[in-house]
Amino acid sequence: MRFGRTVTITLANQKGGCGKTTSAVSIASALSDQGLSVCVVDADPQCNATDTFGIDRDQLTHEGLYTLADAYLGKKPAREIEYEFDDGRFGGLLTVMPGHRALGTVPHRLESQLQATIANDDYSDLDADDIKNEHRHRLKQSLESLRGVRDVIIIDTPPDLGFLMTTALIASDYYIIPVFPSGYDLKGLETLWRTVDKVRERYNPQLALLGVLLGNFDSRPKLDNDIQQMLTQKFGQGVVFATNIHRSVKHREASVYGKTIFEHAPDHPAAEQFRSLAQEVLKRLGPVAEGEEPLPLMEANRG
Ligand SMILES: Nc1ncnc2c1ncn2[C@@H]1O[C@H](COP(=O)(O)OP(=O)(O)OP(=O)(O)O)[C@@H](O)[C@H]1O
Ligand SMILES: [Mg+2]
Repeated sequence: MRFGRTVTITLANQKGGCGKTTSAVSIASALSDQGLSVCVVDADPQCNATDTFGIDRDQLTHEGLYTLADAYLGKKPAREIEYEFDDGRFGGLLTVMPGHRALGTVPHRLESQLQATIANDDYSDLDADDIKNEHRHRLKQSLESLRGVRDVIIIDTPPDLGFLMTTALIASDYYIIPVFPSGYDLKGLETLWRTVDKVRERYNPQLALLGVLLGNFDSRPKLDNDIQQMLTQKFGQGVVFATNIHRSVKHREASVYGKTIFEHAPDHPAAEQFRSLAQEVLKRLGPVAEGEEPLPLMEANRG
């Protein structure tokens, strides 16, 4: 542990295929390369992050190992769920809380448990609210076991604003919004902000935007450059990361081969861009790394 305190960051955008998983995995492994201890939390039932690390999910379940679903359904501490690579990969500095298909059914299962509890016992409607809130804090509660153990926790989320995304935001200090120029969707971003505002109001006033990340970027089409300008205007210069991640087939190849970009193409610009992005992330986390309280970053031109 090199940071003064553990920092949790969620990759958030309900738009599908905008670089959440690629960024979560690549930022995490770049930070571990810098000597930080990092845990990647795969909160997406698609389990793309787990697969990108080449972790065999069926094998995990077969061996009776836990997945993130156990944090929600069995209140297991993250420390007991973390998958540690035993082959010296990432210098022992990177762990994964693996995803599971069953994550998609977690909200329904918790709701059924709630209904059963209310039906059987002497519970009021307000007690039901308390139970629901406890469910929403289960990820945060589980991650408490990594406080003082990991420098950074990075949460990959599914492409919707449901329970899994909400619980990730409740558990986080910061969120990063990845955007692809091809999928730029202003209305979608407004909806994401409304959700963030509600999470701040009700559960987590400290939640702050760490930055907006433009990925799958091609400097040739005018559209991509226009969107970069629009984002900078909308969010302010210091909010959009100076490093863009350029379009490259290397990212897709890496995920298909179960590797990170640094293992698949360490000398390619695709890897270099994520190294540079990780430096920016570290700079923005500077005061936190020193153990100071985080400074909320304001979304400058919102609304
Ligand atoms: N810079 C890039 N250049 C080319 N392809 C990319 C780049 N970044 C990501 N991709 C590819 O684009 C697809 C979507 O990326 P990714 O899976 O990271 O998005 P996501 O937001 O996690 O998607 P989902 O919402 O489905 O979880 C993947 O096939 C990925 O390999
Ligand atoms: Mg994904």
